[in-house]
Amino acid sequence: MSIPLDNLGRRIRDLRISVTDRCNLRCPYCMPKEVFGDRYEFLPRAEILTFEEIERLTRVFVAVGVRKIRITGGEPLLRANLPELVERLAKIDGVDDLTLTTNGLLLAKHAEALAKAGLGRVTVSLDSLDAEVFKDMAGRDHDPDAVLAGISAAEAAGLGPIKINCVVRRGVNDGTAIELAEHFRGTPHVLRFIEFMDVGTLNEWNLSEVVPARDLLEQISERWPLVPVDPAYRGEVARRYAYADGAGEIGLIASVTAPFCGDCTRARLSTKGELVTCLFATGGVDLRAPLRNGASDATLGQIVSDTWSGRTDRYSEDRSASTADLPRIEMFRIGG
Ligand code: GTP
Ligand code: 5AD
Ligand code: SF4
Ligand code: SF4
Repeated sequence: MSIPLDNLGRRIRDLRISVTDRCNLRCPYCMPKEVFGDRYEFLPRAEILTFEEIERLTRVFVAVGVRKIRITGGEPLLRANLPELVERLAKIDGVDDLTLTTNGLLLAKHAEALAKAGLGRVTVSLDSLDAEVFKDMAGRDHDPDAVLAGISAAEAAGLGPIKINCVVRRGVNDGTAIELAEHFRGTPHVLRFIEFMDVGTLNEWNLSEVVPARDLLEQISERWPLVPVDPAYRGEVARRYAYADGAGEIGLIASVTAPFCGDCTRARLSTKGELVTCLFATGGVDLRAPLRNGASDATLGQIVSDTWSGRTDRYSEDRSASTADLPRIEMFRIGG
């Protein structure tokens, strides 16, 4: 099958697969606990793709051009027997990079099994090392030390290079950004600061809460001089900077102040099997129904290819007052 280009000339390269819509945190910027309380009904099992179905669809995506797979959630480590899925995906010819984004709370328990199953590396979300601030960002009273233990276990299991994602909200955790940078300086882990985004419809996003990446860059480089580093690959979302004294590297993801839609090669597969072509999409194209109704790989590949070819998404570049009220899919269903 030929590799499709979308309407803006972008090819499909990455697939982010959400394996569950559940999470053990309630980050107010993603799953506010007022909405996702005890009685919230997550997807029933029959709605969720099985490992066999995910493997089959992944093979279809790889045939259409995907080379990089990221397993996401919700919190992917809540999906039972996840190493079994990793093992299936690791065997697919053509997958160059197999990785997972997690909040790290269960990572100490699962790192070794994931590595053995063939996972290449992990990215861990960690918004603050201060217990109180962590709680405000995460919406639940967990200890950031549990996340650090997960990072250590992942390192010991060989799941590096590890990236640490920190979403920054003004007045909530921006005051602890330097402490976080100091903690990871001198380690091989790459800390990346992400601008708070208006994903989903529930996080009461406000531009005044976004700390522009350039402000953080200034703040950090005043303390430890930084030098820019070339992107590791075309379309990398983080801008890279190395500490001038050789103490490692950080990244800045300026998705609000400097959008990167022009190079966006990412497709998403939602928990229930929709192909979603933008983080800010209103919905997706159902692949589960044709899959369960017996469609061939060629037919599924054609649906993926046609959907990608018709893609015009560039939400972050179009963001304005008039896009603010558009309906959109929730982030925890497509894993960021
Ligand atoms: P690497 O392969 O390690 O470079 O990872 P990545 O940067 O592709 O993936 P990761 O999940 O770590 O992305 C970091 C964060 O950047 C995400 O969690 C999102 O917050 C943001 N991000 C990633 N992809 C997109 C995208 O397509 N659009 C927007 N607006 N933000 C994105
Ligand atoms: N803005 C920016 N990043 C977000 N993430 C979740 N919600 C948002 C948001 N509103 C991040 C998570 C995780 C990654 C998958 O996306 O913290 O690191
Ligand atoms: Fe869970 Fe990640 Fe959403 Fe936080 S951002 S609630 S850890 S899925
Ligand atoms: Fe890609 Fe949409 Fe993000 Fe732009 S906003 S980079 S098109 S996912």
